[in-house]
Amino acid sequence: ETGLVTYDPGYGNTGSVKSEITFIDGENGILRYRGYPIEQLCERSDFIETSYLLIYGDLPTREQLDSFRESITYHTLLREDMKPFFDAFPRDAHPMAILSAGTSAMSTFYQNQQDPTEPWDVEVSTYRLMAKLPTVAAFAYKRSIGQPYIYPRNDLKFAANFLHMMFAVPAEPYEVDPDLARALTELLILHAEHEQNCSTSTVRLVGSSQANMFASVSAGINALWGPLHGGANQRVVEMLKGIRDADGDTSDFIQRAKDPDDPFRLMGFGHRVYKNYDPRARIIKDTADRVIRKLAGSDPLFEIAQELEETALNDDYFVERRLYPNVDFYSGLIYRAMGLPIDMYPVLFALGRLPGWIAQWREMNADPDNRIGRPRQIYTGHPEREYRGIEERT
Ligand code: SDX
Repeated sequence: ETGLVTYDPGYGNTGSVKSEITFIDGENGILRYRGYPIEQLCERSDFIETSYLLIYGDLPTREQLDSFRESITYHTLLREDMKPFFDAFPRDAHPMAILSAGTSAMSTFYQNQQDPTEPWDVEVSTYRLMAKLPTVAAFAYKRSIGQPYIYPRNDLKFAANFLHMMFAVPAEPYEVDPDLARALTELLILHAEHEQNCSTSTVRLVGSSQANMFASVSAGINALWGPLHGGANQRVVEMLKGIRDADGDTSDFIQRAKDPDDPFRLMGFGHRVYKNYDPRARIIKDTADRVIRKLAGSDPLFEIAQELEETALNDDYFVERRLYPNVDFYSGLIYRAMGLPIDMYPVLFALGRLPGWIAQWREMNADPDNRIGRPRQIYTGHPEREYRGIEERT
């Protein structure tokens, strides 16, 4: 009755997917996009070039990059008849709800103009998503604080354009700090792809039914929102604030994190694949130090985070389970220093992960042998039994 299903229907119960996009060595903390180490991309590339690499498979020539960048730059505006969409949400709606709904909604606003009955144009979907998600995110934020929408500008690069839409106001000029734009670019590159994580697997599974790219990415945004996944960067800062306000000793919280009966977990720690320091966390920690010094001088939450790391990495419980800081442990502190509201942190993760989702969706749909995902199960329920009338039930 409950035999283990062993055949592999492609995407199904083996859970293993073939992909050429990202290589992770969890034992040694190595991450490469299309063979390029993330450390080199962080240092020498930018987010649009790295997105091109992930989506098309190689670093672009000058003309390829210019054309890709232009395809995105000239589609950053939302249609004016999409603006009422934002008014349908309560002011305090979590921006991830607006981002996923807005992404799905865009599949109706940006149909294949030639012939809506035609299958979706993959290139049109690719650069419309890359172009418009930051605008949806920034509009969601502006509405939550009752400020006018700031439209995207064609003279600003990706990160600077987003910061401008977030923090400019019509009443006065706003100069984007190039150091902040560079720090945000690094974060976007580091979040861009991570092989078959929960949200990317969601994008693939939804896309395997031939749902369009907008709908598949919208599903990925919702999966990312979970506190065990991309929502962890928000939970880390909430945790650090709780420790600061409790005025407690960090070692008390490390003890609580080890107690199976205590719901407290060390958010931003641990990873299914990395059994060594997450290479992204290493870079983000240095960036956090640099940005916090520049913008705030210091942040007690950063001190607490470093203390927690120091204590945990010398504690048998964490050492035995090979639990290290992951990508979410320090990233929220950078967004906090930049002045982003805490519920926007997972949104920044989504903006970074977008090229990865697109690359994985395209890779799957380009495979002529791809079939609809259909994970199997091991049945552990009742054997067959007879129906009983309600009068027989006690
Ligand atoms: C991301 O998959 C990806 O690639 C994801 C991601 C990406 O780029 O897409 O890297 C992004 O999602 C990073 C993870 C963000 N989430 C968090 O920081 C939440 C806190 N971390 C944990 O919930 C956990 O570590 C996970 C969810 C990240 C991983 O979960 P696993 O692989 O299922 O590990 P587990 O829960 O089985 O933990 C193994 C052991 C358990 O103890 P025992 O039952 O063996 O006694 O380690 C313990 C856990 O209790 N443990 C923790 C812990 N994480 C694991 N104990 C305290 N604090 C923690 N954070």
